[in-house]
Amino acid sequence: MNNSPIGVFDSGLGGLTCVKQLLQLAPQEDIVYLGDTGRVPYGTRSTDTIIKYAMQDIEFLLSRGVKILIAACGTVSSTLPHSISDALPVPYLGVVESTAAAAVKATKTGRIGVIGTPATIKSGSYLRAIDILLPSAVLVKNPCPLFVPLVESGYVQRDNPVTRMVAEEYLAPIKAAGVDTLIMGCTHYPIIKDIISDVMGPEVTLIDPGKEAAAAGMALLKKLDMEALRDCSGARNYFVSDGIENFHQNAELFLGSLAGGSVDQIAID
Ligand code: DGL
Repeated sequence: MNNSPIGVFDSGLGGLTCVKQLLQLAPQEDIVYLGDTGRVPYGTRSTDTIIKYAMQDIEFLLSRGVKILIAACGTVSSTLPHSISDALPVPYLGVVESTAAAAVKATKTGRIGVIGTPATIKSGSYLRAIDILLPSAVLVKNPCPLFVPLVESGYVQRDNPVTRMVAEEYLAPIKAAGVDTLIMGCTHYPIIKDIISDVMGPEVTLIDPGKEAAAAGMALLKKLDMEALRDCSGARNYFVSDGIENFHQNAELFLGSLAGGSVDQIAID
């Protein structure tokens, strides 16, 4: 048993898709969330910059005494080398392994699509993870660099013509390849899953990385006997590196009725 908080971070607010799932799975857990909203997006940056930013995020969460770190960010998960994450003082997990496993479980044809930030797609992280689990799988990938700024700007309504047009453009080659499963390889994308689903069609199963990482994180805590043992509801402390107004505007969008807790701005570098 361990009552220290779960640390979750992302370049922005997309990681709240993971927090939402954690709140549903384990309302008794304290959560500290960091969204590096002052420097989002990460996915168009160099490997060195992504690692530097991720380490600053991790150091901040460690300073808050977290018992586990969840990189609720496809870009960081695909970029941070194991040599760094394995050496951290608390257990660390990203989104790639659990999301790849969910996609392999869901596919019937073995044809799987992956969308993500340019850094995630370039890293080949999903290709490697799926190859281990299902070597016969055919992976069709495409980076979607405009999705993150569209989501952070609140262009998320199902009938938003701008986001729909961008989605049609990005998803066309994946749809044409006839996949039956699509990994939304960035934690921002589930926020526009209705639009993605409308474009891909109802027969394509969408895999949500935040949801899978939350379940994997809780399974790991259970395995390590590090779950909180409290009946009351846990505290939620959200931190952002830019103004808190944007968080307040979008929190309900990301967290729905589970929104609540403190929100503070910090200087991350
Ligand atoms: N949510 C992040 C991810 O999963 C967004 C990355 C970015 O900032 O570009 O990749």
